[in-house]
Amino acid sequence: MSSSTTWIHDAVIYQIYPRSFADGNGDGIGDLAGIRARLGYLKTLGVDAIWFSPWYVSPMADAGYDVADYRDIDPLFGSLAEAETLIAEAHGLGLKVIVDIVPNHCSSAHPLFQAALRDPAAPERDLFYFRDNPANEWSSHFGGPAWSQAPDGSWYLHMFAPEQPDWNWDHPRVREEFDATLRFWLDRGVDGFRIDVADHLVKDLSAMDGYRNQEGVHEIYREWRKVAESYPQKGIFVGELWDPDPVSFARYLRPDELHTGFNFAFLACPWDAAMMREVITLTLSTHQPINAPATWVLSNHDVVRHVTRYGRPDTGHNFLPLLDGPPADLALGTRRARAAALLMLALPGCAYVYQGEELGLPEVEDLPTHVLQDPRWVRSGYTDRGRDGCRVPLPWSGTNPPFGFGPAGSTPWLPQPESWAKLTAEAQEDDPGSMLSLYRAALRLRRTLDGGPLEWLDSPEGVLAFKRGHHTCIINLSAETLPLDGDEHVLLKSIDEPGLPPDAAVWVKERVA
Ligand code: NOJ
Ligand code: CA
Repeated sequence: MSSSTTWIHDAVIYQIYPRSFADGNGDGIGDLAGIRARLGYLKTLGVDAIWFSPWYVSPMADAGYDVADYRDIDPLFGSLAEAETLIAEAHGLGLKVIVDIVPNHCSSAHPLFQAALRDPAAPERDLFYFRDNPANEWSSHFGGPAWSQAPDGSWYLHMFAPEQPDWNWDHPRVREEFDATLRFWLDRGVDGFRIDVADHLVKDLSAMDGYRNQEGVHEIYREWRKVAESYPQKGIFVGELWDPDPVSFARYLRPDELHTGFNFAFLACPWDAAMMREVITLTLSTHQPINAPATWVLSNHDVVRHVTRYGRPDTGHNFLPLLDGPPADLALGTRRARAAALLMLALPGCAYVYQGEELGLPEVEDLPTHVLQDPRWVRSGYTDRGRDGCRVPLPWSGTNPPFGFGPAGSTPWLPQPESWAKLTAEAQEDDPGSMLSLYRAALRLRRTLDGGPLEWLDSPEGVLAFKRGHHTCIINLSAETLPLDGDEHVLLKSIDEPGLPPDAAVWVKERVA
């Protein structure tokens, strides 16, 4: 089966960040019970699949991306039996399930790393990168050096926090461990895997950037693909690939490797027509020859929410700490986010919705420093506030925190702004002008539109216009209102104003001449 004929090729996938989605037991942290109670909401929203950020046993040094047991659920979230029920319930609603797999590193609490720490002569040492001295000058992505000292004086590699030691993928035991983990979740019916830092697995310690894109990583994914295809559901893979080079990016998507990779160039692109067009064209031309579906994503749990990003003077994304600047214009950001949603959902390929973007949530930029939990805050020497601002628990209902995230009186693990009273799912439910209504309408309509390749249409400067099959999408990123003739052809518009004003988008059906 070629990649483009699997369900993923035009799917809309909703990312659940479990600790911030919904809290069933009132301890302030989202959990599986909370998710189960909200599956109907996702069905009504109209997505095809759910991706769960890690729910595994973890000391939570990096909010679950430090995994101590890949084959069990952290008690904070629930139990394995409950995860099995949740998967079955999602399937019952016609929703596919993607789980996160974290193969570059584990938690320092993982029994194999603990065994390696206990005894310098233990065979488990070889499952990690232990050296007498740091083997290179690599920096951790969270700041500081990528080597830390073990109690016995030796050094081990961690590309992220010291609590996240990197696996040594040259060792067959590591491969066996992950083979077993893939099978464990495929046996439980999952439909695919999101692969954390997918390009990092194999290392050349002697090269300056030898921590990514090493040739050997491709062989691993060929093996994984065989495993997934041996199951009736033929699991799919989506790689987290922050790779600006389309050539090396595309090599991961060859027909016997990953099905898709996140398109971070689109996420990082400033709100600018020429730049957007260039990113879209490059994305499509990268994917076409290998027959892989493109992915489109505007936000996730690692980046500033795009309502805020699009309301800042610099509308592109980078990982630099936020320096002082004028506050984001959230009205402008929201207007652009609405237009961006119609752009993203009109493009060929699959699209990702990060929990809360359908509510138009902004980044929470003023969390008090004492509540910050992202390891980037500490590792950066308290200069980078990190990613907690996009991880604030969702507002579901009511007029005061916890806004239905948990039972009344419970305290969410990060404080929600009072101003979110107007952004709850309940408040938006019956408002035809709300972000939630726009996402629901777009997702419903998307199913009825015929696909087909994208064809750019002539348009004034600052305006993007393209056709797919019998419909057209126009996005106005200029400062002028564009006249729209023939309102009867409008399928969906991001804004209820005459014509197509700046920072708005429209889907139009083909005119019958
Ligand atoms: C990427 C994940 O998305 C991020 O949240 C995490 O901190 C790093 N990988 C390390 O696992
Ligand atoms: Ca809970």
